[in-house]
Amino acid sequence: SGYITIDPGFKNTGSTTSAITFLDGEEGILRYRGYSIEDLAEKASFLEVAYLLIYGDLPTADQYAEFEHEVRTHTLVNEDMRKIFEGFPVNAHPMGTLSSLVSAMSAFYPDSYDSNVPADTEMHIIRLMAKMPTIVTWSYKKSQGHPVNYPDNSLDYCSNFLNMMFALPVEKYEVDPVVAKALNKLLILHADHEQNCSTSTVRLVGSSQANIYTSISAGIGALWGPLHGGANQEVIEMLEAIKADGGDSQKYIDKAKDKNDDFRLFGFGHRVYKNFDPRARIIKKAADEVLEKLGVNDPVLDIAKTLEKAALEDEYFVSRKLYPNVDFYSGIIYRALGIPTNMFTVMFAIGRLPGWIAQWKEMRENNEPIGRPRQIYTGPTERDFVAMDKR
Ligand code: CMC
Repeated sequence: SGYITIDPGFKNTGSTTSAITFLDGEEGILRYRGYSIEDLAEKASFLEVAYLLIYGDLPTADQYAEFEHEVRTHTLVNEDMRKIFEGFPVNAHPMGTLSSLVSAMSAFYPDSYDSNVPADTEMHIIRLMAKMPTIVTWSYKKSQGHPVNYPDNSLDYCSNFLNMMFALPVEKYEVDPVVAKALNKLLILHADHEQNCSTSTVRLVGSSQANIYTSISAGIGALWGPLHGGANQEVIEMLEAIKADGGDSQKYIDKAKDKNDDFRLFGFGHRVYKNFDPRARIIKKAADEVLEKLGVNDPVLDIAKTLEKAALEDEYFVSRKLYPNVDFYSGIIYRALGIPTNMFTVMFAIGRLPGWIAQWKEMRENNEPIGRPRQIYTGPTERDFVAMDKR
């Protein structure tokens, strides 16, 4: 019926109207609900930004206190969820585990199937915000052969996460405020990015009126891929490979330019930013500060800087408007904070969670129709069935 336009990768297709995130790819502007990413990253807490994204305005002191309290007191995860978790292999990728356990939450909170009850939806939102960091730290503890840590409700969001990650029963652990502040900033920078691949996935799954846990779980799956959130892990693995290979950045730039080679320079290029990624600018500065404050001397950072410089001077990257994106430097900070490489993408997921929630909520409140793209069929027109012994 009518004309169908094919737009692979939806490069020029808008799927919705949205009042959440403003993005100007030419000018490198990113704003959540009208507030600049630069201001929010510098001045706000991650939960404040989460509130802003989900409910539309910055919280008053009372609203913030209530939201924070709710999140703080729902961090404990049902012990039966741990039994599911314990069945995963010790070296399972934390993204697969997280996606499965978030999906499993729908079984523990069956009232999520009826997402039309606002009070229930509120609770699901709080539960997701509160419990996802707890689940994420389990993967790390298991990989280390250590017992998991239970949440500590006396700590703020970032400190509680760091405590669950790094505290050991045998020695005293104090959260370093420099580390907590850096984590807060990284989570804010990742909190929303309008209709990216994982967010579009959350909205599409949610558009069938599937429950919020399943919708977010699908988003986690989409984020895992190396062209999306998985790029932060790929970047560090690439920089380490360059280092192991004698530190010759040019060789990898040439490889990325070679059209007979699938290799891409991870952390470079963006679907919408065509001059610079504002998040990358903030992160580059933060990386320098954090490494200096923590006294970390990371040779991988030097390789990153040489590689960036060489690429920015190369005709191939210049003509295609390929610049470092948010993932180019985020892994370097995560490394300095002691977070292992295979957990970078789950860190991104914790950051993106309020964005996914806000977008899911907006889609349901606007009563959007089920997402159902069309196609142009290119297979055989019509064929006569051939019995198996005649093929
Ligand atoms: N290295 C080498 N060449 C590249 C790269 C790269 N990183 N990115 C794009 N190109 C080339 C691509 O080969 C194409 O060249 P040509 O015109 O000769 O065919 C041209 O630039 C346009 O690229 P595209 O693939 O059509 O662009 P896209 O908008 O579909 O893809 C992207 C955007 C982010 C998937 C892509 O730039 C990429 O794969 N980058 C590396 C992965 C990465 O860092 N992803 C993180 C993105 S930011 C955070 C997030 O979304 O999670």
